[in-house]
Amino acid sequence: MNKIEKLYEGKAKIVYSTEDPELVVQFFKDDATAFDGVKKGQISGKGVANNLISCHLFDMLEKNGIATHFVKRLSDNEMLVRRVVIIPIELVVRNVAAGSLCKRYGIPEGEIFPEPIVERYYKNDAFHDPLMDDDHIIRFKLANAAELTFLKTTAMRINQILQDFFNSIGITLVDFKLEFGHYKDRLLLADEISPDTCRFWEKGTQRKLDKDRFRFDLGDVESAYVEMLKRITGSSS
Ligand code: TMP
Repeated sequence: MNKIEKLYEGKAKIVYSTEDPELVVQFFKDDATAFDGVKKGQISGKGVANNLISCHLFDMLEKNGIATHFVKRLSDNEMLVRRVVIIPIELVVRNVAAGSLCKRYGIPEGEIFPEPIVERYYKNDAFHDPLMDDDHIIRFKLANAAELTFLKTTAMRINQILQDFFNSIGITLVDFKLEFGHYKDRLLLADEISPDTCRFWEKGTQRKLDKDRFRFDLGDVESAYVEMLKRITGSSS
């Protein structure tokens, strides 16, 4: 499948058209940003790690009955995906308190929630991706009530599948972000699932193995991505 035309370039990925109007290529960059693009940098090897990790996790989710945009891995930093129309809602699932939740509500980092929390954010950089209420989502027609229920229920199912897997490889899945898109008459999980979009803490040591190492200058950024790649896929390439 050949890349024909650049359709969209985001902060971490580029999307290209192909000969097939229903399929696009997602190319994963080493570029990293944080805090709404205020902090910028490069993480060597991130594109490859995030692509291979996302391929592995999408494949696992498909095998567990979750419909995703994933078709196949094309190369180390490219995957073939179905061309979806992204719903501008980011669903964040939280099992343990961290990040913006701690800042917003004064909850100590590391507090374990008895049940996961599913938040919705408006995916819109110009407004800094604000937290959004279901009423806003429905009134502003970002999704209808049935779609919203599907998104939240699917996010919870994905959390269960991912938590079981990450527990088995010695990682606490602290939180993660999901995006979905319309494809024909279906809603598919889209975007990526990677150390850019999840928080991973090593069980026992609580060592952070995700983009927080870049966000907060914790050092050993590249090795955290490689470590997660090895743990998730069982291989470093
Ligand atoms: P937060 O605590 O900063 O709201 O992040 C929650 C989760 O969402 C965390 O796993 C990182 C992920 N995330 C993204 O994937 N993209 C983003 O733009 C932000 C802010 C967070």
